[in-house]
Amino acid sequence: MRGFRSLKLSLRFILPLAIALGMLAFAVVPLVDKLTLHWFIRDMDIRSRLIANTLHEPLAELLQQGNKSRIDSLLLRASQDERLLAIGYCSDQGDLLYHTPSFLVSISCSSVASNVIEASQILQLPEGAVHVATHQIVQEGGKKGHLILVHDTSFMELRSADTRKYIIILFVVLGVVTSLITVFVAHLSWRGWMEGVRAMLKGEGLLKPFSPQSASSELQPLVGDLKTLMRSLDAERRLADDSTITWSPDSLRNLLHKQLAGERVIVVSNREPYIHSRVDGEIQVHRPASGLVTAVEPVMRACSGTWIAHGNGTADRETVDAHDRVMVPPDKPEYNLRRIWMSEEEEKGYYYGFANEGLWPLCHIAHVRPVFRTSDWEQYVKINQRFADAVVKEADSDNPVVLVQDYHFALLPEMIRKALPKATIITFWHIPWPNPESFGICPWREELLKGMLGSTILGFHTPYHCKNFLETVDRYLETRIEHESSTVLRRGQLTMVESYPISIQWPPPWQGTLPPVEQTRAEILTELGLPADQLLGIGVDRMDYTKGILERFNAVERMLELHPELLGHFSFIQIAAPSRSALEEYQAFETRVHALAARINVRFTHQGRPAIILKAEHHEPDQVNRYYRAAQVCMVTSLHDGMNLVAKEYVAARDDERGVLVLSQFTGAANELYEALIVNPYHVEQTAEALYQALTMPEYEQQERMRSMRALVCDFNVYRWAGRMLLDAARVRQREKLATRIGRVS
Ligand code: F6P
Repeated sequence: MRGFRSLKLSLRFILPLAIALGMLAFAVVPLVDKLTLHWFIRDMDIRSRLIANTLHEPLAELLQQGNKSRIDSLLLRASQDERLLAIGYCSDQGDLLYHTPSFLVSISCSSVASNVIEASQILQLPEGAVHVATHQIVQEGGKKGHLILVHDTSFMELRSADTRKYIIILFVVLGVVTSLITVFVAHLSWRGWMEGVRAMLKGEGLLKPFSPQSASSELQPLVGDLKTLMRSLDAERRLADDSTITWSPDSLRNLLHKQLAGERVIVVSNREPYIHSRVDGEIQVHRPASGLVTAVEPVMRACSGTWIAHGNGTADRETVDAHDRVMVPPDKPEYNLRRIWMSEEEEKGYYYGFANEGLWPLCHIAHVRPVFRTSDWEQYVKINQRFADAVVKEADSDNPVVLVQDYHFALLPEMIRKALPKATIITFWHIPWPNPESFGICPWREELLKGMLGSTILGFHTPYHCKNFLETVDRYLETRIEHESSTVLRRGQLTMVESYPISIQWPPPWQGTLPPVEQTRAEILTELGLPADQLLGIGVDRMDYTKGILERFNAVERMLELHPELLGHFSFIQIAAPSRSALEEYQAFETRVHALAARINVRFTHQGRPAIILKAEHHEPDQVNRYYRAAQVCMVTSLHDGMNLVAKEYVAARDDERGVLVLSQFTGAANELYEALIVNPYHVEQTAEALYQALTMPEYEQQERMRSMRALVCDFNVYRWAGRMLLDAARVRQREKLATRIGRVS
C-alpha cells in the first residue's frame, strides 16, 4: 500500500517529465541532424580541397603533356578512396575531357564552366545525393580547366540516422533514470513525511525537532510551520470550546456522545461516593467528607459508567451483587459503583502508610515529615495492580476513557496502559505537587513518576503545580519535555500536563428548595442555644493538619483580644469530620484541636456563649449547607491545599449574596476567588483582622464580592472541569485515530 502510494505520487511527476523529454527530443533531433550535416559537408570540402591540392601539380603536368592514359590512371588511383565516387576534368569550355568510369553523366561540365555548380555543393541527382567540389587547374601557359570531385554522401545519411537513434536512446535512458530517482526520492520523502505527520498527530512532533537521521529532516521547515499552526489551532479551539459552552450535566453528556462516541467512563478513586454502614442493626448510607467525591459524583451522574473504589463501609459487602457492583445513588440509581476489597494489612500499608504518611505530607508544605516504609510501598504497588485489573475487567472496549483520581494511584496509569495500550487515561492529582527537591525525598520517586506518565492527560489544580511536576520529571527521569505545549514524551507515550481547576456542581442540588437564609440562621441559633443576633463564623474540614484549624482558632482568639466589644457576640463553628484517625499524627492533631478550642473557650465564653463550637463529627452535605447559609463568615485557612472546595461551596450556598469568605493564600481557590479576603494563615494578626473586617463589612460590599464570586463558580463549575479534560482527551483520541489511519495507508 505504501509502495503504491509512493508510485502514485511519483507518477504525478514522471508523466510530465516523460512528455517534456519527448518534446525536447522532438526539437533536438532535427537540430542535431542539421549540425552533423553541416560538419559532414565541411569535412567533404576539406577532403576535396586536400585531394585537389595533391592532384593539382601532377595533373597540370600531365595535361601539359597531353598524356591521356597517365591522366586516366592518376584519376583512377585517386578515386580509390572509399568515399570518393568519381573524378572528372572539364575544359574551360565545358567539355568533359577526362573522368573515372564511375563519373555521373548527370554532372555536366557546362554547368561547372558557367559557375552553376558552386565550388562545392550537395547535388540531388537521380542516382542519389552527392557532394560535388570543383577545383580550378591552371597549366603552364595559363590554360585552365576544372577538376571535379564527386563524393558519395550516402554514409552521411547512415550516420545521421545513427545519431538520431543514439539521441533518442539517450533521452529514453535519461527519462528512465530520472524516473527511478524520482520514485526512490518520492518513496523516501513520503515515508519521512508520513512519519513526520504521524508523529505530529501523536504530539511527538511538538516535542522534538526531527532527528538528522530521519528521512523527514528535509521537511523540517515545513514541519516547523505545521507545528506552529497546529498549536495555534489547538489553543484557539480550546479557548473557543471553553468559552462558548455553558457547562451543565447536559453539555457534558453531549460531549461524551459526540466527541467520545458515547463512551462510558470509568472512574477510579480510593474513596467511594456512597458508604453503606450497619448502624444499630440497620443499613445506612452516607456520603464521605471528601472534596474529590463532591466534585466527581455529579460528573459521574451526568456521564454514567462505572466508579471503582475501595469498599470500606461495614455493610458494603452486603449491598453489592455477585460482581461487587451496586447501582448508586441509592434513591435514583444512575451509575455503577464497583467495590474493591482489601485486608486491614493492605489498607494499613497502601492507604494509611504510603498514601497518607508518605505522599500526603510529601506534597503538602505543612511541616509534618513524610514517612516511607518498604512494606507500605509493597502494599501500594499491590493495591494499584488490583485496581488496574478491575479497570481492565470493567472496560467494555480496548480504548476506554478512564479517570484516575489522586495520589493513591500514581502507579495505576502505567499499569492500565500495559493492559490496554489504547486507553485514554486522564489522571487528576487532587493535592499540590511539591518542588523537585521536596519530591526527591521519596525513595520511589522514579517509579511514581513513570507510573503517572502512563496517563494521556495529567491534571493539576494550578499551573504552578504543573510547573513543579514538569521540573520534577526533568530532574529525575529521561524524557523529552516541551514546556510550550506542556507535554512529556517518554518511551513513545505522550502525556499532556495541564491545569484544570476543580469546582463544584452548579446550580447547587438544593437550588430553590431551601428556606430563606434568615430562617435557617434563626433555626441554627436556636439549636445552638444562642441569641438571635449572635454573629456566626463557620469552618468545615476533615480533621487534618493541613487545614489550618489551629491557626484559625488562634486568629479567632486574637480577634477577640483586639476587638473585645465582640466578646459574647461572635461564635465560630468548626465542623471537623474525623479523618485517618488510625494515624498517630492525626490523633495528636485532633487532641491539639480539642485542647485549643477548650482553652480559648475558657478565656472567651461570655454569658454561656462560647467563642468556638467544635463539632468533631461527620455531617451530611445538606447539614453542612445549613451552616454555610447561617454563618456571616466562612474561614478557609489551609496551610496548603490543592483547591479547597469548601470555599466554593460556601459561595454557592449564599444565594442571598451575603456573607464573607476569608481564604488562605495557600489554596488553589485563592487563584480564582479574588473577592475573598485573602490571608496568610501563619500570620495571626492579619487573619484576625480579616475576620473582624468580614464581621463588620457593609452589606453592599458583601453583596458585590459575593455576586462576583458566585458568577465565577457558576461559570467555572465542575462540569467545565470534567468537560475540559474530556474535550482534551477527545482531541488526543482524534489525533491518534488519524495517526493510525495515516499509518495504515502510508
Ligand atoms: O482533598 C484532597 C483529598 O485527597 C481528596 O481528594 C480526598 O477525597 C480527601 O482528601 C479525603 O481524604 P480521605 O479519602 O483520605 O478521607
